[in-house]
Amino acid sequence: MRMELESLQRESLARLQGAESVADLEQIRVQVLGKKGALTQLLRGLGGVSAEERPVLGELANALKGVFNEVLAARLELLQRRDLDLRLQSERLDVTLPGRLPSVGGVHPITRALREITDIFSSMGFPSATGPEVEDDWHNFGALNIPVDHPAREMHDTFYLPSGPRGEKRLLRTHTSPVQIHVMENRSPPLRIIAPGKVFRCDSDLTHTPMFHQVEGFLVDEGVHFGQLKGILAQFLRLFFERELPVRFRPSFFPFTEPSAEVDMGCLFCGGQGCRVCKGNGWLEVLGCGLIHPAVLSNVGIDREKYSGFAFGMGVERLAMLKYGIHDLRLFFENDVRFLEQHARV
Ligand code: DAH
Repeated sequence: MRMELESLQRESLARLQGAESVADLEQIRVQVLGKKGALTQLLRGLGGVSAEERPVLGELANALKGVFNEVLAARLELLQRRDLDLRLQSERLDVTLPGRLPSVGGVHPITRALREITDIFSSMGFPSATGPEVEDDWHNFGALNIPVDHPAREMHDTFYLPSGPRGEKRLLRTHTSPVQIHVMENRSPPLRIIAPGKVFRCDSDLTHTPMFHQVEGFLVDEGVHFGQLKGILAQFLRLFFERELPVRFRPSFFPFTEPSAEVDMGCLFCGGQGCRVCKGNGWLEVLGCGLIHPAVLSNVGIDREKYSGFAFGMGVERLAMLKYGIHDLRLFFENDVRFLEQHARV
């Protein structure tokens, strides 16, 4: 028994010294001191030894237990410290590294342009109105003095939809001018409105997208004349482009206005000298306008003898491209994050 105790001591202490993890140590402890452990078994055997030998062996066994526990504690402390050192090494935090910035969203340049346009007109007393994107033939064409078979319809490549419940032709509006009709049908003059929104044309190439944005504007009152229209639009262009600009009104044709004009402004990029953007002539075409055709007023039941009005319409993508220096229309719709970040404003 003494020999067994001595060899258990030698062997168990050697195993403790060789243990490489806290879990190993625990396993060795159970194998020696546990209920079924080697030392526990030996102690149970003490009952069978002689009365003289028993205290000696008992003392020896206790001494073994004491040494075992001491070595176990020392090894445990060493392994725990080693584990901690390893963790401190591997989990070291470099506080000098740059932080990760949260990504912040921004406003799309089209939204930004729409807001700038509506803010300017709002400051001139034109509140915003909206109308449906799915229109009937009357609001998009007929009431605007564009009869069936009129060649002006061919200027608009229309997306037609299946007919409505009462057999009426339905389509995606090709311009925001039908909002004029909705407003005039429902309210009486004096009227002063702008109508920003999406419009749709069956057209897609480098300079056309099937959906784009327009802002329509109009005013109906007694004694409205072309001079007022010129003043409002010239002032709008100065405020939008944030500079003094030459503006000219060139005679044109729209079925819903008479007389009609197209508005050009001095080229922003060459100061009127002629460059690639203005195709060498020093002017940029920016919007269409005119005095509302009396037939349009009659169509919505407004007294054309008493009232007159002006109207204008502009393309938002075009204005945004000119103001923010964007050269490719497609960039607005590709949603490349790099482009959006470059133009984002919160
Ligand atoms: N509706 C026209 C278009 O989409 C734009 C326009 C021109 C609107 C002249 C007007 C206007 O109100 O007077 O091409």
